[in-house]
Amino acid sequence: MSENSLPTLSIIGGTGDLGSGLARGWSKAGYPVILGSRASEKAEQSAAVLQAEGFTNVSGATNAVAAERGAIVIVAVPFSNYEASLAEIKDVVKNKIVVTAVVPLVPPKVFVVQLPQAGSAALMAQSALDPSTKVVGAFHNVGAQKLHAGSKADCDVLVFGDDADARAEVIKLADAVSNRGIDGGALANSAAAEALTSVLIAINRKYKVKGAGISISGLA
Ligand SMILES: NC(=O)c1ccc[n+]([C@@H]2O[C@H](COP(=O)([O-])OP(=O)(O)OC[C@H]3O[C@@H](n4cnc5c(N)ncnc54)[C@H](OP(=O)(O)O)[C@@H]3O)[C@@H](O)[C@H]2O)c1
Repeated sequence: MSENSLPTLSIIGGTGDLGSGLARGWSKAGYPVILGSRASEKAEQSAAVLQAEGFTNVSGATNAVAAERGAIVIVAVPFSNYEASLAEIKDVVKNKIVVTAVVPLVPPKVFVVQLPQAGSAALMAQSALDPSTKVVGAFHNVGAQKLHAGSKADCDVLVFGDDADARAEVIKLADAVSNRGIDGGALANSAAAEALTSVLIAINRKYKVKGAGISISGLA
């Protein structure tokens, strides 16, 4: 926890488009953020870019060190390296919340839904990690460019998990970077948001836009 009691957020794959975008938003909201990378130099360089823009509470480290230091760990790596990334952090994320934003996209047809045999990337994480780790799925439908644009992403964020307290904690993280986080229920429901990403990519292609997103109607 930081001095202002906000938890330290570590992002595995934090040098990437989504990870660095989330880092901007969370840093702006006051969270200490650690960008994780396979290479510590790359993590430090990415952190330096954000520090130069005034995000002084961002630092860089290897993915393993970041996972160890973070109170909440966010996984934002390509699906192709997902299982290896989970295996690398498994021991140091026991009893922590792990948020997976990973979408099981299979190039080249990323605009077609192709969910894995396990059902979803979120369920893969629950199987791969220790039972004490609380896995939450979120941020699947937020285009990274919205997070880099300088204000909160103009869309809702669906949050899934089997632990209500963990979901509530991650809804706060979603509130910090988007219009609002919305409780989407059980971790198994994450498959819907993961699949929806391919639908949004198809919409972007069809309508020649970059930022198709979701907004849930009917809520106060
Ligand atoms: N981009 C979006 O708008 C968006 C939105 C919602 C969800 N997502 C999901 O979030 C995840 C990350 O997306 P992204 O666009 O941020 O990806 P990205 O920029 O391609 O990659 C993220 C980071 O993962 C590491 N990485 C890349 N290729 C790797 C490999 N083959 N093996 C191991 N590590 C590798 C790299 O970090 P280092 O080289 O520093 O290790 C990279 O900076 C994906 O699962 C994606 O589906 C993305």
